Amino acid sequence: MKIDRIHFQIIPDSKGKDTLEAQMLSDGTSVIASVPTGESTGKNEAKVIPPQKALEKTDWIFSQIKDHDFATLDQFDGLLTTLDGTEDKSNLGGNLIIALSMAFAKLLAKSAGMEVWQLVSKISGAKPSLPLCFFNVIEGGVHGNPPAGGLPFQEYWFIPKTNSPQKSLDEANDFLKLLGDKIKDGYGEVEMGSEGGYTIPSKNAEDGLKIMQEISSNAQFGLDCAATKLENKIDLSYYQLLTTNYNLLAIEDPYSEDDWDGFSKITASLGEKIWIIGDDLTTTNPKRLKMAADKNAVNAVIIKPTQIGTVTETIQAVNLAKSYGWKIVVANRGEETMDTFIADLAVGIGADGLKSGCPLQKERMVKYERLVEIEKTWHI
Ligand code: PGA
Ligand code: ZN
Repeated sequence: MKIDRIHFQIIPDSKGKDTLEAQMLSDGTSVIASVPTGESTGKNEAKVIPPQKALEKTDWIFSQIKDHDFATLDQFDGLLTTLDGTEDKSNLGGNLIIALSMAFAKLLAKSAGMEVWQLVSKISGAKPSLPLCFFNVIEGGVHGNPPAGGLPFQEYWFIPKTNSPQKSLDEANDFLKLLGDKIKDGYGEVEMGSEGGYTIPSKNAEDGLKIMQEISSNAQFGLDCAATKLENKIDLSYYQLLTTNYNLLAIEDPYSEDDWDGFSKITASLGEKIWIIGDDLTTTNPKRLKMAADKNAVNAVIIKPTQIGTVTETIQAVNLAKSYGWKIVVANRGEETMDTFIADLAVGIGADGLKSGCPLQKERMVKYERLVEIEKTWHI
């Protein structure tokens, strides 16, 4: 496939900040892809360049790709990584590269008359499936409002026990209604966090879990502690207590991004019972995943295309994580766009979960709605 035109544009993300949108044209077919941004970014992630800088690189990038006839996504992504030439995508920018990579994947799918999830499934060799939805309903940490002013943990999830996205969304909406009323009763009017979830003006991490379990005592929950941003290291005994007292399916980043020992110990202690998920620890990076496997540090991983910078490498990371027998959770970023690529990615790689924030915010809702759309055509 030859590319006839690329065009970058600066658009506002869910926080009103500038981010990058790429448009790509081939043989009369046009697609767009836009890039979310992390607010609690791991230090081993692909580097982001200012969107304005990406615009200035458009002509040069196009001059490098216009004469190629790409047969696969691998060829396209391979050229971009070669042109960049760095480990962390800091030359061209991880945001610029992933915008083009997602756009090319969409173009390839469209020109083959396929859905994006079908193309991803073909490339990855995975059997597609509908993931569990990890709804981020209470927010704290740097995603709180004000940032770091409330609960220390970053995300409190409500996870319906069904693979039907429609049923999950219905359950989430019922739960959010009850949760909103209960929080207002207990705390008065509250602000929403980065991903559209509620915040609570309490510094006690357990309060978020308490209020959720009071609403539904047999529902399933989870946490992203985003511990790299925590001031103090949490004792293993505290996580053991939370796991005993609350219906937790998963805990993400219980320790900071370099605390291999903390991760290994919690996985040894609680890994039989719950998912111990790496995010800042593993950053969708095959090298970090391998280190985590060597140290038995996790039994599940967060997958974010922006962390590694191309769709091809994202799929490679997924396949590596699967070879270790880990659960896979595809996730959104703190600042999002209306792009729904990650929903297709989750289905196409047969992910166990999709974590896309709180459906009260439109940038999050569109990803869950995309799952619902896929579900409707599932058996056709
Ligand atoms: P980020 O956080 O996108 O702000 O880095 C999301 C997460 O930690 O899962
Ligand atoms: Zn995280």
